[in-house]
Amino acid sequence: SSCASSNKERTLAIVKPDGLLGNYTDDIKKTIIEYGFSIAEEKLVQLDEDNVRRFYAEHSSKSFFSNLVTYMTSGPVLVMVLEKESAIADWRALMGPTDANKAKATHPHSIRAMCGRDMEKNCVHGSDSPKSAQREISFFFGEVSTDKVTEHDEL
Ligand code: PPS
Repeated sequence: SSCASSNKERTLAIVKPDGLLGNYTDDIKKTIIEYGFSIAEEKLVQLDEDNVRRFYAEHSSKSFFSNLVTYMTSGPVLVMVLEKESAIADWRALMGPTDANKAKATHPHSIRAMCGRDMEKNCVHGSDSPKSAQREISFFFGEVSTDKVTEHDEL
């Protein structure tokens, strides 16, 4: 119904390289739809070091940053814009805790429990605030940045 559209929120979701390698994409998408999100945009991309350094700029001083860059450039990722009421918080909740081992222990129905492995290989990403969501969505789907990210052929 058209008058409900103003309540909708958008967030950026990424299926990380381990999610694609493990063939979890279909199950993740099913879960996304089952929980009432719609997938407004999606594309498969191969990130390079520069892309990852810019995308995760706020973590550049962290000890794990170089591992994160190596990991996120190790294979293609599926980038999606998810839409629903409270999409940002609800997608974070559905993903589960950052550490996939913790997810398995405390949030067994979360996506990271289903397909993550540890703190690094945690299968999915989600924007953490409205400000991040806006920045991250335009990073991948904005007019200026679109041509800086290499689209990957369908797997
Ligand atoms: S922090 O310090 O609380 O802001 O960090 P956190 O939100 O937990 O994590 C930020 C992103 O960095 C990834 N991360 C790691 N990658 C590799 N190795 C280690 N040890 C590690 N710790 C955290 C984590 O998966 C988060 O990625 P995104 O894509 O934002 O979920």
